[in-house]
Amino acid sequence: MNQRSNFTSKIGFVLAAAGSAVGLGNLWRFPYLAAQYGGGTFLLVYLILAVTFGFALMVAEIAIGRKTGLSAIGAYKALDKRFGFVGILTALVPAIILPYYSVIGGWVMKYFFTFLTVDIKVVADDAFFGNFIGGSPLEPLGWFFLFIALTSIIVLLGVEKGIEKVSKFMMPFLAILTVGIAIFVITRPGALDGVVYYIKPNFKDFSFTTILAAMGQLFYSMSLAMGIMITYGSYMKKDNNLESSVRQIEIFDTAIAFLAGLMIVPAAYMFFDGSTEGLKKGPTLMFVILPKVFGEMGSTVGTIIGVAFFLLVFFAAITSSISLMETVVSIVMDKTKLGRKAACAAVTVFSLLMGIPSSLGFNVWSHIAPLGQDLLTFFDFISNSVIMPIVAFFTCVLVGFIIKPKTIVDEVKETDGKFKSEKLFVIMIKWIAPIFILGILGFSVAEGMGWINV
Ligand code: PFF
Repeated sequence: MNQRSNFTSKIGFVLAAAGSAVGLGNLWRFPYLAAQYGGGTFLLVYLILAVTFGFALMVAEIAIGRKTGLSAIGAYKALDKRFGFVGILTALVPAIILPYYSVIGGWVMKYFFTFLTVDIKVVADDAFFGNFIGGSPLEPLGWFFLFIALTSIIVLLGVEKGIEKVSKFMMPFLAILTVGIAIFVITRPGALDGVVYYIKPNFKDFSFTTILAAMGQLFYSMSLAMGIMITYGSYMKKDNNLESSVRQIEIFDTAIAFLAGLMIVPAAYMFFDGSTEGLKKGPTLMFVILPKVFGEMGSTVGTIIGVAFFLLVFFAAITSSISLMETVVSIVMDKTKLGRKAACAAVTVFSLLMGIPSSLGFNVWSHIAPLGQDLLTFFDFISNSVIMPIVAFFTCVLVGFIIKPKTIVDEVKETDGKFKSEKLFVIMIKWIAPIFILGILGFSVAEGMGWINV
């Protein structure tokens, strides 16, 4: 068996796991879902899920990894042969996410170069994003190819450690810049209504799909139900406190998502005069709204902030895409006889092919709309709102009834004999989380099919 390398310190572990967790999920995905699903209502549901579900699942996954010393596919099988299929499902998730994640990564690169080279007024114009994404299909495709190519070159050369170092150094700047931009936005005249919309729950916005969307976002943002945290756990030392590490990762990840929402949602509300038009922009929201915000800062300041912001987002995105690709490559290497280079080439070609529909879905393929969604949103839905809840459900069943919560509790207690939220953990993983996940999946399917109307 391979000797697994270890994180030498707790802070090293927390930073690495938080580095994987913080990415486009926080900056791009959270704000548009919050805008779309009723602002404060979504925020409240998300926060409740984060401290209950998110906590229990992250503890379970990291503990499974640390206990078995294996990554997802091996770990589920090692714990119980019958649960091997959960490992396989888990492996599908990053393979589905990587292609469309890279399409968005391409948009981020385009915006970085645009802010560098084009007058800010042009970018801040309503039509700019639409022209980019809906104009010649080759342009967004080209940026997507470039992003995937960069990711695969880094993975192939094995230089991700270097990139991660740079990125870790840059993340605090991203956090500071996000705070600064959020403050700028909420102090604009007329922004207050938007802030209220973002923070104050309004129960008329509540539906089962709100919960499903919040749950999918939670998994996505915290890199849960996709095997990533199991792998991270397998590198964690026994003397690192698992419970407090999980708390720190959660707080960090949620804080960044909250701030990203604060910088984008009130602005979306404000620039479209509180109409739903601005709030329903879906995956394009960040790209439509932020240039307008930067435009308000005046051309010099706005340009500098725009360049800096999209550069930092690019780093957050590329570190995430690297870890997604690494995960898929190592699965392919484990399951086939391919070497690293061949596996990497195969994953790159697969991602290129799979990403094309997501990119063209906003363009010449916009008429193809499964479940009424554009193709990118559809892939995103399949991974986050379908496969991940199923994986999470079986993880709960495995821990709650097969290996028993005590196995995980004991693993958590290895460090100093303590597990403060033990009761919460046991109740969540055994009863509340699995029943809730099934219920929400059922209701959402029923709602989506039009069988019930909530
Ligand atoms: N959690 C990341 C985000 O919020 O953007 C997405 C992600 C990154 C998922 C890396 C998986 C992963 F391996």
